[in-house]
Amino acid sequence: MSDTTTPPQSVARQRNADRELNAARLLRASAKHSYDPLTEIDWSAPVDPDHYALPAHRVALYGTPLWERLDERARARLSVHQFASTTAAGIWFELVLMEGLIRHVYAGDLTTGHAQYALTEVADECRHSTMFARYITATGYPSARPTRRADRLGKLHFLLNDTTMTFAGAIFVEEFTDAMQREMVRDESLQPLARAVARIHVVEEARHIGYAKPELERRWAAMTTARRAVFRRALALLARHAVAEVVHPRVYALAGLDPAGARRAAEANPHWRQARIDWARKALEFFTDLGVLTPATARSWRRAALLP
Ligand SMILES: [Fe+2]
Ligand SMILES: [Fe+2]
Repeated sequence: MSDTTTPPQSVARQRNADRELNAARLLRASAKHSYDPLTEIDWSAPVDPDHYALPAHRVALYGTPLWERLDERARARLSVHQFASTTAAGIWFELVLMEGLIRHVYAGDLTTGHAQYALTEVADECRHSTMFARYITATGYPSARPTRRADRLGKLHFLLNDTTMTFAGAIFVEEFTDAMQREMVRDESLQPLARAVARIHVVEEARHIGYAKPELERRWAAMTTARRAVFRRALALLARHAVAEVVHPRVYALAGLDPAGARRAAEANPHWRQARIDWARKALEFFTDLGVLTPATARSWRRAALLP
């Protein structure tokens, strides 16, 4: 059985023309609004230990008995470590995405705007991952390594070589972090360093989402029914693991808490559930409109605390 159905030639031509138009727009926007975080951000500025990196109600333990036991400074530190952990998860995902984009270019023709934009996005992600690593170092968070589970999942993705999944995963992760980071940019009470990181990321990620969405639409339209069924389940699984990675167990250990107990408290916390639902909303609306998320698979998204 073939993986895809082939469209008639005129449809394929129109699709290529649309793809090139979109790429030209994205390349123009990249030329105008790209940032070098190594020079844009003042990395030597002191980090105030009383500043939150995330709004308090977006910290996984907010409102739980464990939260009540922490003093204000410990809560702020927890929020900084949670955001540092999110940036570590960002590095993990960006490395996987970059590999997928390189693979996409390797299969394409670099004289097209579409392929050139893929490389432009790789360049963006190189700068983001370096910026996230700098943030981790600046805040004293001890490591940029993901969990072993995420590490294995990344390696599995390399093996499976599924570029369509790369794009779908990118839409989910990029919309999710975009929603979180837009809240950070809006909230002037938060740590200036975290907001500077978020601001650069928000601007550049909007283009990545604009690249991945039509690409997933094209690929989804060409996918067989059987493959779509597998894809729906695999994407829900990837999203669940990606979101679990947002708060690495070491975040809790650094706060002097038992990681397993703290994780259970976070999972039972309605505020944390709501945060994930809010951040996932735009991606899930897109997947629902496209038919990637159906009532039959909604249960696994709900179990991952990504749907109400
Ligand atoms: Fe990024
Ligand atoms: Fe991105």
